[in-house]
Amino acid sequence: MTTPVGDTDFLVGRGLVKRYGEAAALAGVDLAIRPGEVLAIVGPSGSGKTTLLHVLAGILRPDDGQVLLGGHRIDQLGEAKRSALRRHEFGFVFQQGMLVAELTAAENTALPLLLAGTRKAQAMSEARGWLERLGLSGMEDRHPGEMSGGQAQRVAIARALAHRPKVIFADEPTGALDTKTGAATMQALLSAARTTNSAVVIVTHDRELAAKAGRTVEIRDGLIAKEVLV
Ligand SMILES: Nc1ncnc2c1ncn2[C@@H]1O[C@H](COP(=O)(O)OP(=O)(O)OP(=O)(O)O)[C@@H](O)[C@H]1O
Ligand SMILES: [Mg+2]
Repeated sequence: MTTPVGDTDFLVGRGLVKRYGEAAALAGVDLAIRPGEVLAIVGPSGSGKTTLLHVLAGILRPDDGQVLLGGHRIDQLGEAKRSALRRHEFGFVFQQGMLVAELTAAENTALPLLLAGTRKAQAMSEARGWLERLGLSGMEDRHPGEMSGGQAQRVAIARALAHRPKVIFADEPTGALDTKTGAATMQALLSAARTTNSAVVIVTHDRELAAKAGRTVEIRDGLIAKEVLV
């Protein structure tokens, strides 16, 4: 079964299969993401959520099926091209922010801009703007070790959005935070992503967080079991 792809779908997975040995982490997933939409992926542990995210983002290549961005296949590109694509078109937020410990909040946030060729002064000024938007004014010069988990995760969000990616991929971005901080962080992510019109694909175990998304898909045993439209 193939989901019909609409004109406005711009990141599309078709018939995605990913095998590890005998087992299929993805068993034939069709999923289309529209610009600016917020899609939550839920499902039990081991059901294939992270694998799906990594295949859509060009981190992993599927064993079968296709990934298309703006109508062009990205799954067939070599490592260097997929890496460049990830740097330019996508932003990533992981469960633990994966910030560079030696760099300040502003320097961490500026990284994707510097990698995209923005000059240092400009990148640092934009980074400070992002930190302000995420409620981190005054923390620009702190190192990750000098911030709370929620604050560090906001820096990771600022960094993911700084180059205005088409899609933000977030894997359990609030998984290491308490419920209240997690909800506030999710809210910060969603409202910041609206300012760049980035689509957000978010993996979460938390049904309450998922309810904030425009659309939720549930994965079981490597297949989309259910689609919930809010
Ligand atoms: N590198 C790997 N080598 C072998 N098996 C893997 C690998 N990565 C994932 N798997 C297997 O693929 C399946 C799906 O894993 P995945 O990480 O996508 O699950 P998940 O839904 O993200 O789970 P969780 O909620 O625990 O993060 C699991 O059975 C897992 O053991
Ligand atoms: Mg996972």
